[in-house]
Parts: sequence; C-alpha cells; structure tokens
Amino acid sequence: MSLLRRTALAVLPLVLAVLPAHAATVASVESPGHVLRVELDVDDGRIGYRVFRKGMPLIGTSRLGFLFQDAEQLQRNLAFTSQATRSVDETWEQPWGERRVTRNRYNELRTRFTETINGKRAIDVTFRVYDDGLGFRYEFPDQASVKDVRITDELTEFDVLPDATAWWIPAGEWNRYEYLYDRTPLREVSQAHTPITLKTADGTYLSFHEAALVDYSGMWLRRVEDQRLKAQLAPGSEGWKVRRSAPFSTPWRTITISDRAGGLVESSLILNLNEPNTLGDVSWFKPAKYVGVWWALHLEDRTWATGPKHGANTEETKRYIDFAAKHGFRGVLVEGWNPGWDGNWFANGWGFDFARATPDFDIEALSKYAASKGVHLIGHHETGCAVSHYERQLPKALDLDARLGIDVVKTGYVCDAGQIERQDVEGGPVLREWHDGQWRANHQLRVVQEAAKRHVAMVDHEPIKDTGLRRTYPNWISREGARGMEYNAWGHPPNPPEHEANLVFTRLLAGPMDFTPGVVSLKGRGGQPIQSTLAKQLANYVVIYSPVQMAADLPEHYEQHPDALRFIEDVPTDWEDTRVVNGEPGDFVTIARKQRGGDDWFVGSVTDENARTLSLPLDFLDAGRTYEAQVYRDGDGADWKTKPFAFVVERRRVKRGDLLSLKLAPGGGAAIRLRALE
Ligand code: NOJ
Ligand code: CA
Repeated sequence: MSLLRRTALAVLPLVLAVLPAHAATVASVESPGHVLRVELDVDDGRIGYRVFRKGMPLIGTSRLGFLFQDAEQLQRNLAFTSQATRSVDETWEQPWGERRVTRNRYNELRTRFTETINGKRAIDVTFRVYDDGLGFRYEFPDQASVKDVRITDELTEFDVLPDATAWWIPAGEWNRYEYLYDRTPLREVSQAHTPITLKTADGTYLSFHEAALVDYSGMWLRRVEDQRLKAQLAPGSEGWKVRRSAPFSTPWRTITISDRAGGLVESSLILNLNEPNTLGDVSWFKPAKYVGVWWALHLEDRTWATGPKHGANTEETKRYIDFAAKHGFRGVLVEGWNPGWDGNWFANGWGFDFARATPDFDIEALSKYAASKGVHLIGHHETGCAVSHYERQLPKALDLDARLGIDVVKTGYVCDAGQIERQDVEGGPVLREWHDGQWRANHQLRVVQEAAKRHVAMVDHEPIKDTGLRRTYPNWISREGARGMEYNAWGHPPNPPEHEANLVFTRLLAGPMDFTPGVVSLKGRGGQPIQSTLAKQLANYVVIYSPVQMAADLPEHYEQHPDALRFIEDVPTDWEDTRVVNGEPGDFVTIARKQRGGDDWFVGSVTDENARTLSLPLDFLDAGRTYEAQVYRDGDGADWKTKPFAFVVERRRVKRGDLLSLKLAPGGGAAIRLRALE
C-alpha cells in the first residue's frame, strides 16, 4: 500500500467523525468559483440548509420556516417539489459610492416546498451563492390558501460549526444601535443586531446581515444553543411582527464570508442582492462635505432651543456659510432652526414644525446668501419620535427644502423611551413601535420616496439599519445607526480607541455612516478628552465611508489647525475604487481609496489603544505614474492620553511598488493623500 493511500485511510474516519450527520440532500448549488456549496434537505417534513466552504462544513443543518398568528405553522409536513437554477455574471455602476463598478456573479437555486397535509400550502426558498457569500429569501407564492399573512416568528437558523469569536451589539434594547461593540466567544452572544461579525478558530471571517429590508421587520439574531443563531424579528404593536399579503418575498438573509477581515469590507454582496436603481439619473445628488451648527450644541456652548444661546440664528449661520465657502465645503447643517425645541423635546416631538423657521433664523435670506457663495443649507428634521406628526408635514417640509436649494436633509428619531410613536388617524390612539419594526421600515422608505420626487437626499440619524437600499433608492445616501462622534461630546464612556476599527468590520458592512468625524480640538463637553490623536481624526475620513462627510468641529478650532484642515479640504467623498490593505476587527485597519473623477489615491489607517507599525505596499497605485505622498501622521511620542496633538506632515515622491511604513501611536492613525503628478 502506498504511503499516500495509507495516510488517506487513516484520515478518513476522522473526517467522517467531524462531518455532522444529516438527511439526504434534495437540492444543492455551488458558487461560480466552487468556493461555497449550499445543500438543502427535508428531514421529517422540515426544511434545512447547510453551507460548505472549500469542502469543509461551515453552517450545519439549519432550519427554515414560519409561525403565524392565525394560520398553522409552516415548518413541518413539507415536501420538496421542484427546483430551478440559473447563473448570472454582470456588472453595474453605482452613481456614487465606495467603488464605481460592481460585479454581480452568482449561481441561483430556487426551490419549492409544498405541504403534504391540510391546505397544501407552498413556499419557495431562493439561494444566491457567490464566492464571497450567499443570500437566501423566502417567497410566498400566489395561492388560494395564503392571502393575508401575519408572521409571528421567522424560524430561520444559522448553525455556525467552527468555534468562533463574535463582534456584536445587543438588539431589542432601548438605545437602538448605539452600543459599544463587544468581542466575546460566539457562545456568549445573547441577542445581537446585524451585521454581526465572526472569526472562526481557523481564521475565516463571517458577517451575518440582511439585504433589501422592505415592508418587513428587521432581523435580530438570538443565540438559541451552542453556536446556533436564530432569526428574531423586531416586534410590532399589533401582535404580529410582519403583516403582508401574498405574493411577497422576505428580505435576503445574508452571510458574507472571507479569509481576510478586509474581504468582508470589499464584498458587494449586500448591494448586489438589492434591486437596481429605480430613480434613474440622480446626478442631482452631489457627494460632498459639510459643516454645521452642531458640535457647539453637543458641547452645550449653544442650544437647540430658542433663547440667548440659540445656535440657529442668522448671524451665526452666516459665519458657518462663510467658513464653508472659504474652505470648499458644500453644505451647512443647522439644527434647532425650527419651532419645537423649547422644553423637553426628547419626550415630546409633537410640537415640531418642519415648514417654518424660528424668528431669529431668516431661512429665506440665508439660503440666498449661501447660494451666492456656492453653498447649500442642509435641512434638519428631528422628529423626537412623533413620527406620524412628522410624516403629515413631510410634503410641505420637503417643498420648502426644494424651493430653498436644500437638497440634503438629515432626520433624527431621538426617543425618550426608545420607541417611535405612530398615530394612524389624526387625534386617534398613539401606538408605539420598535425603531426597526415593519412600520418603521415602511415609514423610512416613504420619506425617501417623497424626498426623491423633489430631488432631495436623506441622511437618517437613529435610523433603521442599512440593508443596501441605497442601490434602489440612491437618494438614501447615509445614516447613523451606531455610536457616532456625538458620544465623544457627552458619552459615558466616550468612544474608546478601538471604536472605528470595530465599526469598519461591523456596522459599516451595512452601508455608509454619517459618523461626523474631524474634531481636531480633541475635546468634548467640559473638556472631556477624545480618545484619539489628531492624525486619527483625519484618517477617519478615509476609513469610514459616507458620500456626505461632516467636518464636525467649530470653525475657530479648524483655524487653529490649518495643516489638519488642509487634509479635510482635500479628501473626497466619492470613490472609484476601495481596497482594504490590512485590518483586524477592533484592532486596526488601513483602507486605500481612489478618488472618483480624479487620479489621486487616499489612505487612512487607524489603530486601537495599541501603538503599531504597519507596512503599506503601494501596489494599488497606477503603474507608470509618480505621486506626491502627503503624509499626515502621529508625531514622536504621540499618544491619545498624553500627547494627542503630536502631529507631522511630510511629503515624498513615490510610485507603485514602493513600500511605506506607518507608525501609529496609541489611539492614533495616519492619513495620506497620494497626489498624482503629471
Ligand atoms: C441625535 C443625532 O445623532 C444628532 O446628530 C443630533 O444632533 C441630535 N439627535 C438632535 O437632533
Ligand atoms: Ca444619534
């Protein structure tokens, strides 16, 4: 017997031992490059799926199905009845984004399962399998026995087989998505929001999320036993979690999978699973940077409320418009511009007026003044969670915005009790809904569609999570949905140094974030130190993707840091391409992006509380060109705790193939503009 054969025989029982037993496969599909394989089975009338990566089991047999309020469960007594497959390989372009051209290459398996008893109801499950992940969704076909569908539980499971570590925030809590990311064994996760990120013991990275969350409730993931996660739909006020009439499809349940953490960031799976642009030409939306009467409010130097410290007054806004015009910022956000902020707005949004300014804010004159300088006011609609009250005023509010050249509007859903308020009929009962239930999902889309009619783009704070709908509605440009810069003003604790390296590999996998970076004064309310060096504040403009990026600090603070301001002026917010050079969740990350419509590259690198030296091979640069590297880095002895302002700007000539070494301080970072020379 050859040595090879003997070894093979010795290994065989071991492999069999780790392969979990399962029912016979009824249908299967592989990714185009044969990296992933999905199998479906029916075990005692229950549908299950499992996933193999490079031949190894990754997701063990996991259940699919539903419970309903007034119909029998759809999870047993099912038989596999038919299948259809197809393959797609196409490219499409984002009107704006982190890359221009996206490839959409997958194999699809569409399966039908039919009940063997009772109403013989049918349900379809469709898988799209890519080399870097997969999505699947349920489709309730048109059938006499299924019309009004009231879902009380979606039974979808994800049984992760290899031991894994998780980066996650809790779901079903009052503060929405605004929690610090925790890193724990997957076995210690309770109930998490998606995206949740895993790293298996053998070094595979996974992100669980959903795509195209439309007319459905957001999916949380609850660990039910060992490493088995189960869908937990956000509740609704009426007893069901989702109510739809058939035929309809659920959102896609997604798993992005890569050997590199950066592969999760580079993946376009979520966007690919969304429907194409329905708005047509959206060149009226201009990716851009903005400043605003904002940080001063969070510092409590100014107030949202009217009175002697009211921030949104005509003179103060002119100062911001002048600053914006001088430094090339397109937008000026002004919060507190409208009636409703006096008193306790946190607890009562029913007094907000979105179509009228306070007397000391001359909105007509200011928008003209701004226009004369090439600047646009950015609108602000804080609902205080009286969401129906806001919706009723929406057409009028957006008409005002469109008339005044306000083509970007930021919304806010700060809720005292964590729940949004819904009132279907004026004067009728007020129902309370989760921030990510079906009603909220529908509300947010109604706002985006209403805004699109008037060529207005939306940035939502306290939003429902992003599931890639910017592809279908490219005026849905950005949102918050995590702890942003504001926590550095008043958070207890403020954002820790690892925060951005967490966000890149978790929250940002969902889509752009209006983090509002760039506080160069490095101090929050009452002088509370921001846990960052100056260079890191600049790096965040590249590391955190959003087509609108705030320069969040006060004009007078920027004037004190002209070198840092230069990078903020130069950095674009729209990209031709994006590469993740290196990174580990919660530790560090380096991202290189090529400017859209230009030849320059920009690099941002951030670290956690640990100093580190990272090598940056410049192999992404265009061949045959010379670049001037303008490096904004931590200076000698820099440390967020003791010497956060130690900061150096250096210039040198580089070309493709050169190697730079980035020395990052504790809590530090580096930002580089690679300016293409002739
Ligand atoms: C919370 C938002 O995140 C913040 O940016 C805004 O200033 C306040 N709400 C007030 O609307
Ligand atoms: Ca917020």
